[in-house]
Amino acid sequence: MVVTTKSEAQTLALGRRLGRLLKGYDVVCLDGDLGAGKTTLTKGLARGAGSRSRVASPTFALARIYRSPRWLIYHVDLYRVGPDQTRDIGLEEFTSDSRGICVVEWPRAGEAYYPKDRLEVRLSHLKAGRRLRFVGKGPRSREIIRRLGRN
Ligand SMILES: Nc1ncnc2c1ncn2[C@@H]1O[C@H](COP(=O)(O)OP(=O)(O)OP(=O)(O)O)[C@@H](O)[C@H]1O
Ligand SMILES: [Mg+2]
Repeated sequence: MVVTTKSEAQTLALGRRLGRLLKGYDVVCLDGDLGAGKTTLTKGLARGAGSRSRVASPTFALARIYRSPRWLIYHVDLYRVGPDQTRDIGLEEFTSDSRGICVVEWPRAGEAYYPKDRLEVRLSHLKAGRRLRFVGKGPRSREIIRRLGRN
């Protein structure tokens, strides 16, 4: 599924709708260039999943955790991380927590840790706005996309 957003506000709103559909064990990988909107989408997602925390780019922290009444949202950013440096970040715990929703910016270095069934969002710049391509890697993530497309 491909969605285009014309503003930051539209990306936030899309993230909120996505966040409402997520639950424990869900993993969302956000792939795209600098400034493509990964953190913006995550802000909406965290809000939609019920968190009121301030979402900021975790580039220097590697991971941040936002709490909602139901979920823990693990927000990971592997921009500066190589595949040999991912061991101690906690990706295994983040992706195997029944209350955990795991969102990863620059996901490539963590490839070894994600479940097969994960939702990939590929973000790119348009002349005006952004394009977001949603790819479901298994039945659960395809179901999320179907529901996202319906509402
Ligand atoms: N349609 C849009 N969707 C999202 N952001 C947009 C859009 N149009 C403009 N912007 C702007 O683009 C920037 C996106 O920044 P954001 O931090 O979300 O990107 P990012 O993909 O997380 O970047 P990084 O790779 O540095 O982590 C923001 O400054 C936002 O205001
Ligand atoms: Mg970011």
